[in-house]
Amino acid sequence: MSPTVAVILAAGLGTRMKSRKPKVLHEIAGVPLIEHVLATVKQAGVEEVLIVLGHQGEKVEEVLGAGYRYVYQREQLGTGHALKQALPLLREYSGGNCLVLCGDTPLLKSKTLQELIARHLQTEAKATVLTAMLADPSGYGRVIKGSRGIQKIVEEKDASVAEKEVKEINTGAYCFDLDSVKAGLKKLTPANVQGEYYLTDLIKFLVEQNERVETFVLENSHEALGVNNRVQLAQAEAYLRREIIEAQMLQGVTIIDPEHTYIGRMVKIGQDTVLYPGVILEGATTIGENCQIGPYTRIVDSFVGADCTVNNSFLLAAKVGRGCLIGPYSYLRPGTKLAENVKIGDFVEVKNSFVGKNSKIPHLSYVGDSLLGEEVNIGAGTITCNYDGEKKNRTFIEDRVFVGSNTNLVAPIKVGRGAYIGAGSTVTKDIPAGSLAIARGQQKNLADWGRKRGKKKEEN
Ligand code: UD1
Ligand code: CA
Repeated sequence: MSPTVAVILAAGLGTRMKSRKPKVLHEIAGVPLIEHVLATVKQAGVEEVLIVLGHQGEKVEEVLGAGYRYVYQREQLGTGHALKQALPLLREYSGGNCLVLCGDTPLLKSKTLQELIARHLQTEAKATVLTAMLADPSGYGRVIKGSRGIQKIVEEKDASVAEKEVKEINTGAYCFDLDSVKAGLKKLTPANVQGEYYLTDLIKFLVEQNERVETFVLENSHEALGVNNRVQLAQAEAYLRREIIEAQMLQGVTIIDPEHTYIGRMVKIGQDTVLYPGVILEGATTIGENCQIGPYTRIVDSFVGADCTVNNSFLLAAKVGRGCLIGPYSYLRPGTKLAENVKIGDFVEVKNSFVGKNSKIPHLSYVGDSLLGEEVNIGAGTITCNYDGEKKNRTFIEDRVFVGSNTNLVAPIKVGRGAYIGAGSTVTKDIPAGSLAIARGQQKNLADWGRKRGKKKEEN
């Protein structure tokens, strides 16, 4: 029987982060630490999740949203005290097992949790501790073993010189028999150097009662990394980043310079896509097959279809159809939707606009709050003047319109199908289909002006 419930401890102050932000909201690979833990728990098949919040808990709750049950630890008196706050909710579950995890161990794998649970069930232990063998165990609780296995966990600050030598550490992840937790929590005291209620004392209590307690050693000790400061945050980031990148490469993505490529955990990339150096893909981003992305391109919460080229550009909450050419130096802002084979060129910004199939905005333009049809050509330096100082207005450009260079389209405005606009026009009125609009000062040529000017100069 798999555990009925998981408890995630996330109320700590995170003092060592030296931050105004709660520790578990610090991100690696673009996702808050605690969300990595929650994703792992879910993947391991545990449905019910209780989260213990405290320090700035409201902020954490706001980020994580509904879907979890929250309890509050108003004073941070230690990990045992934190788990105790979940007791009223844990009483709703009779019998069974419970997983206890820390919100600051983002590298744990769901496979590891499943193996931990399997070991716990198989040995019928009252508690099973996930441990790791570390060359440098400093900062972690040490697992002290005797002839009959684990005896207790000693925090670094409470450890004797000999105990500090122990390389086996507590990862902070456990599988407990629920009834044993309920009984043990009542007996916790803060009798230690830090004056805290240690969750790890539950292990000692069980051993003292001759109950069976097991350890399960991590195969990959990297997974144990607990993030307490920003050095560890960067270590976790580097490790996870490398892991994500290797997984993408093994799935058929070419990454020219893995050291200088950043891919978020939720990003999906199609086969035969090539990522050049300096590419950052974040959030819920999907890149299709056979694309060329980068160099130096950041894509956030966006969709890019197959066969696209995106070079030196920034895409934020944009949707790009198949076969588009983006960049260099394009900026696609939220609400941008490009159909197939669209070209967005250098120094072009597009916001909240749809651009139809085969249309081109090749250089130096701003297109905002607009709807462009198919095969539209927008000349260099064209601006949709969408803002009148009070509200945003829309521009409609129908199929096969040709907009001459350096045109201002003062919205709201509609340019009919197949119309032309002369270069340098400031267009303020709708243009009927098929017409040519010219809205610029008339050119005057003053004959012989150069010679007369020369003569004047002589007279002076
Ligand atoms: C804890 C373990 C240690 C283990 C290490 C693994 C204890 C006493 N120590 O130490 O054996 O090696 O994790 O990373 O359990 N928390 C609360 N309320 C509190 C205190 C902490 O919710 O009052 C939460 C924190 O938000 C954090 C987790 O519990 O997510 C661990 O707390 P932390 O202070 O980081 O414990 P460590 O010193 O790392
Ligand atoms: Ca920790």
